[in-house]
Amino acid sequence: MHFFQYRGNELYAEDVPVRFLAERYGTPLYIYSHETIVRHFRAYDDAYGTFPHIICYALKANTNGAILKLLAQQGSGADIVSGGELFRALKAGIPAEKIVYAGVGKTEDEIRFALRSRVLMFNVESADELREIDRVAGTMKVKAPIALRINPDIDPQTHPYISTGMKEHKFGISVDDAIEYYRLAARLRNIEVVGVQKHIGSQITKIAPFVDAVKRILILLDALKKQKITIRYLDIGGGLGITYQSEKPPAPADIAKRLLPLIMDRNITLVMEPGRSIVGNAGILVTRTLYLKQGAGKTFVIVDAGMNDLMRPSLYDAYHHISPVVKKKREQIRADVVGPICESGDFFARGRTIDRVNRGEYLAVMSAGAYGMSMSSTYNSRPRLAEVMVKGETHALISKRGSYEDLVRHEVMPRYSR
Ligand code: LLP
Repeated sequence: MHFFQYRGNELYAEDVPVRFLAERYGTPLYIYSHETIVRHFRAYDDAYGTFPHIICYALKANTNGAILKLLAQQGSGADIVSGGELFRALKAGIPAEKIVYAGVGKTEDEIRFALRSRVLMFNVESADELREIDRVAGTMKVKAPIALRINPDIDPQTHPYISTGMKEHKFGISVDDAIEYYRLAARLRNIEVVGVQKHIGSQITKIAPFVDAVKRILILLDALKKQKITIRYLDIGGGLGITYQSEKPPAPADIAKRLLPLIMDRNITLVMEPGRSIVGNAGILVTRTLYLKQGAGKTFVIVDAGMNDLMRPSLYDAYHHISPVVKKKREQIRADVVGPICESGDFFARGRTIDRVNRGEYLAVMSAGAYGMSMSSTYNSRPRLAEVMVKGETHALISKRGSYEDLVRHEVMPRYSR
């Protein structure tokens, strides 16, 4: 569910015509819907009702400060994977006691920053990391709250690049070794065991993988209890999918209905780390048609956005729906929608039947709010694009378009030394 809908022939972002925004702010342009973000966050929050829970929005999906601030106001916490994300989360007003810190490669500086900030917990992925956190905490004379990220070996049935919870992945600690790792953690003087975490992959569109993974973790919790290790936080990660094409992912409430009976009688706080399902359908990428080029058996629609602005199609062969911002009776053509980057992989759609567009017309690339801007780059020296938030009939710039000067601002001429 989102608030990008056609009214008559015109695509609207909430109550503002997308064409107006494209003309006002220029293209390529990311447009987000305030109401959609709030609605998605509320869907999670309402689903768990009075059961103790913290929704830790996964920053990596979209790190724009205005979006983070909006989520902070709704009561969101944060799932972070770097010092940079911690900085952004705190700056947006997300309280440290609602921040969980994930990732296989935390550096000493990042661990110090997180300890100083007093984050809720570190989600730890290896024995080496556990010992390093213990050491750093020791030098700071504090105790580090940790959860172990457990790999429940469940197939999330999603794209292999974004599946993380199986034995062969670099993530987490195998469920068979979990007890041993918890024993180690309990022995370390500067570590306080507080939780268990799992995250099995992204863009999951079925309920079963979530339920099966939690069931496995609950068996582990019982085993830990026998060892007198108490777990206060059960962090179930993120991963709920959205509709890009015709997927019908469950709603947060559908999952809650299945999970709540399993955990109802346990004295735990549930932590979730949704990213895509909060912001994915809350953003679109608007691009202008530059040229049409006739190729062998198909047309190339050349647009002003490139793979540097939205990498998902190139990187995962991901489907994003593309439609003209202004609809009219149009001939259908078979086309590749491509960007101006000097790579064959620079496409938004290949061999797709779409409405014929003319030069200068705008296209909307849908469901681009998650892993769009956050994975963008300035490859081919293309300045960072602008981002706009729409709220009802109003709109505001939330990230300025980069300039040519921005492209070189951080560079310095060498002054060699030895
Ligand atoms: N928690 C952890 C530990 C994660 O690794 C991730 C995503 C999330 C939460 C949030 O997952 P979500 O709810 O957004 O599915 N760039 C890829 C997705 C990579 C996901 C990485 N981890 C894409 O564009 O599809």
